[in-house]
Amino acid sequence: MKHKGRPTVLQSGSHHRIVWSESYSIGIKEIDDQHKGLIKFVNGLYDHATGNEEEEDAYFKKVINKAVEYIKTHFSTEENYMKATKFPGYGEHKKIHDEFVLTIINTAKNYEAGKRLALLLLAHFLKDWILSHVATKDVQYAHYFRSIATRKEDGTLSITPADIK
Ligand SMILES: [Fe+2]
Ligand SMILES: [Fe+2]
Repeated sequence: MKHKGRPTVLQSGSHHRIVWSESYSIGIKEIDDQHKGLIKFVNGLYDHATGNEEEEDAYFKKVINKAVEYIKTHFSTEENYMKATKFPGYGEHKKIHDEFVLTIINTAKNYEAGKRLALLLLAHFLKDWILSHVATKDVQYAHYFRSIATRKEDGTLSITPADIK
């Protein structure tokens, strides 16, 4: 028996989308905004994780280079904060960033070489990595930054050379 009405809609992984929560905030607006940008990228992967190989392929190729650039920019923003404040955990944190960038670049290369990864799995991997990195690592420099920063009249935080001597 044939079904009438709407054709079957391919399911996407949209129900896995990350919903921004204040609990993800590390309290530095520029960084929080970039974390929101990373979450948006992961959510885009979820929305396009239909299981249809051609569609997933086209989407991956469309977004991957921009995503790598975005991730690199984000990491150097954080590293600049860490250097400017002489954060003691800078070396360790930078190493974790560098390893992650290599992982993403290798994933992209493997993908191009035909070792495709389902978008759903890629999105899960990125979601887990990003959320746990923010919650366990990024909070450390944010906490340190706040402990040495001074509050300006408008309420925002800034550091002065005197703070980091
Ligand atoms: Fe981060
Ligand atoms: Fe980080």
